[in-house]
Amino acid sequence: MRVLSVSVRDFRCYEAAAAPLGGGLTVICGPNGAGKTNLLEALYFGCTGRSCRTVNDREVLRFGSRTARVVVAAEDDVGPHEFSVGFTPGEAKRMTHDGAPVERLVDLPSRPLVSVFLPERLDLVRGVPALRRAHLDQYVAALWPARAANRSAYAQTLAQRNALLARLDHGGSRATLDAWDERLAAAALALMEDRAQASSELAVAFAEIAAALGLEADPEVFYRPRSQAGSIEEFQAELRQRLSSDLERGFTEHGPHRDDLVLRHGGRQLRTYGSQGQQRLGLLALLLAERRVISRYRAAAPLVLLDDVMSELDRDRRHALVKVLLNDGGQALITTTDEEHVPFVEGSDIALVAVGEGSVLIPQAPAGGVR
Ligand SMILES: Nc1ncnc2c1ncn2[C@@H]1O[C@H](COP(=O)(O)OP(=O)(O)OP(=O)(O)O)[C@@H](O)[C@H]1O
Ligand SMILES: [Mg+2]
Repeated sequence: MRVLSVSVRDFRCYEAAAAPLGGGLTVICGPNGAGKTNLLEALYFGCTGRSCRTVNDREVLRFGSRTARVVVAAEDDVGPHEFSVGFTPGEAKRMTHDGAPVERLVDLPSRPLVSVFLPERLDLVRGVPALRRAHLDQYVAALWPARAANRSAYAQTLAQRNALLARLDHGGSRATLDAWDERLAAAALALMEDRAQASSELAVAFAEIAAALGLEADPEVFYRPRSQAGSIEEFQAELRQRLSSDLERGFTEHGPHRDDLVLRHGGRQLRTYGSQGQQRLGLLALLLAERRVISRYRAAAPLVLLDDVMSELDRDRRHALVKVLLNDGGQALITTTDEEHVPFVEGSDIALVAVGEGSVLIPQAPAGGVR
């Protein structure tokens, strides 16, 4: 699925605007406050039905307007496709796929997958494990949509076991707990297997891309499960060992809801010891490695949206990033205040879109450092 363009109406600072996307790298260029990030957000909104910057949809509505609307035009081998999202406060969001209403865009088997880098997403590298766990599960779901069910099955079973733990003192039965332990163990093993398999594929791509981006000293990513169990019985035994402390706490302490995805370089966690630049490279390498693996399983590589990444990278690393983006194929979009920050790569597919202060976007013939 290739994205051809995004059109918006009353979205953030745009009254009405449309921007084309190139088949390779599209560079959105303009001064501070011009509307670059808003445009990137509009693409995300149009492909997923939600914002990548806020959980409050009202924020995307242009000041003083009633309805925000985004339309993403795309094409695949079959032909053209259209995805649209309309938002009016107080009403359910209206989403369509090729003109037909849909409940959720993200559930569509064929829609443009998107992966987004925003400066605030650095929390993924330096924040709590729960963020990386959720991200890992999203990546598993992007790789193998059917396996998303394993994640929710585990969460549901865990909630049931926790409810039972809380009741045990008041007449809940041990036999019932044993039955739930077995179900929880089965769900846990399936989830851990998905995460482990997805992470091991990721490890190779991450090491390669991180090194190419100039993250020195053996960059690595690996899955760190809490449980060492290799079978349902072993997981049940782990649960039994911790039963008294679980009863004290009133919830299940052990299991894949405590796992982490570890990013390291030089044997040390980026989360704790990485510089800001190294953490940024780690996050970029993670997103691009996921894209590389996903493109092997799905019809097209996810569209990567990179907001404001160039200004924070040194010259060599900017070069390296553009090279990785172009070599891996698929579509990518970068916002920048300075087109000179996107290095020229001979014969490559780079399109430039200039964003002005008004509401109209002007596709430009590439100039300066961008071709
Ligand atoms: N709901 C809204 N309605 C109208 N304007 C908005 C809304 N939300 C944000 N804006 C405005 O949109 C403008 C552009 O914002 P945007 O974040 O896209 O800028 P940018 O080009 O990414 O700038 P920078 O280079 O500083 O990151 C800002 O002036 C902002 O105040
Ligand atoms: Mg911005």
